[in-house]
Order: sequence, then structure tokens, then C-alpha cells
Amino acid sequence: MATLGVNIDHIATLRQARREEEPSVLEAARIVEKAGAHGITVHLREDRRHIQDADVTGLRKSIETRLNLEMAATDEMVRFALKVRPDQVTLVPEKRQELTTEGGLNLVKDPERFEKAIDRLQAKQIPVSLFIYPDAQSIKLSAWLGATFIEIHTGEYSQAFRLKDKTDKELATIVSAAKLAKEVGLRVHGGHGLTYQNVLPIAAIPEIEDLNIGHNIIARASMVGLERAVKEMLILLQKAKSGRRK
Ligand code: PXP
Repeated sequence: MATLGVNIDHIATLRQARREEEPSVLEAARIVEKAGAHGITVHLREDRRHIQDADVTGLRKSIETRLNLEMAATDEMVRFALKVRPDQVTLVPEKRQELTTEGGLNLVKDPERFEKAIDRLQAKQIPVSLFIYPDAQSIKLSAWLGATFIEIHTGEYSQAFRLKDKTDKELATIVSAAKLAKEVGLRVHGGHGLTYQNVLPIAAIPEIEDLNIGHNIIARASMVGLERAVKEMLILLQKAKSGRRK
């Protein structure tokens, strides 16, 4: 069975909407772990739009599963990761204007930058994963650069599934990519756009060890939790009606 890393960035997105304490990223991580997830994933973006440095350091101290830190391959981020020591770093491309990580890494453009980041992190026993599209060139280059893992970008499969168009073709691409990655000595993860509806065929690929899922789980949590949250407030209003102040 593939393990599950839950990306909790959106808990921080909600908190940052008011710049208040709630909802708490650390409390969310505790609940995610209690539910049985195998890891916590957060993306410390250069613009700090959701997760903050203190969230990552707090998670490092408090979580009992593994901490996967997604970040850009910059000197600033590498220095931060070396200080915080997550269990794994996933290098991702980052563009300021994007709503989420929109694509896989372009390793061809600046391989030395990735090689340097991988070497610095792995020299300190922090294994590195590269978030890439499922194409042979990116996979072979990931192995050549010395990464421990790749995370196959499942976004195009998810999009095809949503549009009911070429899903089998996108799935077959991921299946062959996962096989090739294993053959060249990489360990394989997957993620992006995975949902309760589309996850099964991906989770059934034997080479994929771990899946990172965020948006759909947090969206579902807000729906399944809303009824209880409203009921709890109504109980308080009822208490006030009967004259209680506490
Ligand atoms: N994996 C990586 C590398 C990501 O950047 C993201 C999004 O932050 C995810 C997985 C999770 O994607 P989603 O939120 O669509 O489940």
C-alpha cells in the first residue's frame, strides 16, 4: 500500500486570511497523524503566502511521523532546510503568480543548481525528491543528479480524469515513468490534483511508495466538519437563551 503524506498548506491559507492564530497548523498535523496518515507535507513558499517559517520549525518539534518540506532550490531555502532538518525535502518549481505548483521541475535548464542543492542536503542526510513530469528525460536526469526520490506530477492525469478525456493515456504515461524510475534506481512518489475519485488507479501502481495529497482532503474536511461546527455554535446560542453565561 502506498503511504499518505497530507499537505496541510491550506490550513495556513485559511489562517493567513485573517492573520490570526486559527486554524492551527500544529493542531491540524496532530489530527492528521491521529487519523493514521504517514507524513505531513508543507510548502514553504518564497512569498510565505501560507506556511510560515515558524510553522515548519514547530512541526519539526511536534510531529511524530515524517516531515516533507516542499521548497524551491534556492540558497535561502537550502540554508533553512539544513537548519530545520526535515525528514525529506521535495524540490519544486515556484512562480510568484501561480495559484499552486503548476508544473514539474525543468531540470535541463539549470542542472547545476539542482545538483548543488541535492548534494548539500543529502550530505547532511536529508534525502531529496524532485517533483517532475513523468517523462523519460526528467527521470534519467533525476537519477544522474543523484536524487533519492522523484515525485511524479499527477496533475495532467487528474485534469484528464476531470475532463473524461485521455485518462488511460495519462495513466499509462505515469505507469511507464514509475517503472523507468525504479529501473534507474530512484524511489517513486506521486502527487498533485489527486482526489477521492481519481486516486485508486494511481495508488495501485506498485512502484509508487507514497502519495502527497492536499487540496481535496482539506476541502472534504471543511465539508464533513461544517455540520458539527455549526451545531456547536447553536448549542451556545441555546445556552445563552436559557440565561447561561458560560
Ligand atoms: N505534491 C507537490 C509537490 C505539490 O506542490 C502539491 C501542491 O502543493 C501537492 C503534491 C498536493 O497537491 P494537491 O493539493 O493538488 O493535492
